[in-house]
Amino acid sequence: MKQATFAKMILMLTAAAALWAQAPPQNPQTPPAGAPAARGGRGAGGGGAYPQRPPADPAVLERGKALYGVHCNFCHGSDARGGEGGPNLLRSDMVLNDQSGERIAPVVQGGKGEMPKLELNNNQISDIATYIHSFRVGGYDISRMVPPSILVGDAKAGEAAFKAKCASCHSATGDLKGLGTRIPDAKLLQNGFLMPGGGGRGGGRGGRGPSFNVPPTTVTVTPASGPKVEGRLVRIDDFLVTLSEADGGQRSFRRDGDLPKVEIHDPLQPHKDLLPTYTDKQIHDLTAYLVTLK
Ligand code: HEC
Ligand code: HEC
Repeated sequence: MKQATFAKMILMLTAAAALWAQAPPQNPQTPPAGAPAARGGRGAGGGGAYPQRPPADPAVLERGKALYGVHCNFCHGSDARGGEGGPNLLRSDMVLNDQSGERIAPVVQGGKGEMPKLELNNNQISDIATYIHSFRVGGYDISRMVPPSILVGDAKAGEAAFKAKCASCHSATGDLKGLGTRIPDAKLLQNGFLMPGGGGRGGGRGGRGPSFNVPPTTVTVTPASGPKVEGRLVRIDDFLVTLSEADGGQRSFRRDGDLPKVEIHDPLQPHKDLLPTYTDKQIHDLTAYLVTLK
């Protein structure tokens, strides 16, 4: 009896020692055990040492690709090497050291500098991370697969998508008449309709993308006593909301749970709500259609 327990303990200790010996060193750039041996080296693109990763599940990649296409592509570029307003992600230390979205998630969910926060959950971000990380695995380099023009869509299908998704607020012969003339660059036009004003709060004055006159986000605060106060939203967190009134003066209200009542009116909310509903094809079709609005 005693003997058997002792033998078990030895076995467990040996197993633990073996695990210890196998545990990957603390260097995050080292591939996890079981990853394929450096196939294709650093990938055809050269550049930074993007860590090798085990091949990803195609279903996850597919989901990540779709999410990336809708939420990240228009700023970070279809190859994640930077684009309109977003830096190269493949050269980002944060992305290099990310395993499955845990480092990317706080940026996406909280925003960073000019990058707006996006409403994506951890699973979605993990799928996106898998997709971004796949760019260098096995030498697969998506930048080679970028179509020469983004005008690959079908304008007819785009017109149908416009009727379904946009016509409740816009008109091709009204407010959006001449859009294709105003913004001849298809890529800028695409960024512009996806997130007019570049997604930041600055209404496009950031110098990125076409400068649409997007009205500012406003807020209505209803204190427990006293009249409603309305103004342009300056900042809000769990504890404080600050607005600037028509005369330029700023007022702050301490927040305590649901009090005071705070209603935010973001003119771009419809566009934010639309983002996750597009397919890649719809985006291209819509762009192909919108450039024809002369
Ligand atoms: C509206 C443009 C825009 C969109 C959309 C956008 N980003 Fe960004 N992103 C930026 C900008 C600008 C920065 C640089 C922020 C800074 O450092 O001030 C950035 C920074 C980042 C960083 C940090 C890089 C580093 O090393 O600091 C990560 C990670 C990132 N973005 C991932 C994503 C992902 C993933 C998505 C899609 C879910 C996304 N971004 C969507 C504009 C955008
Ligand atoms: C629920 C309403 C709503 C829907 C649906 C909507 N938008 Fe918008 N859109 C807005 C608002 C509000 C603005 C802010 C600027 C403004 O008032 O023109 C805006 C701005 C724009 C701008 C910049 C316009 C300019 O000249 O300043 C473009 C381009 C645009 N939307 C295209 C689209 C397209 C394409 C779709 C469909 C895929 C769409 N929108 C769906 C409400 C909507």
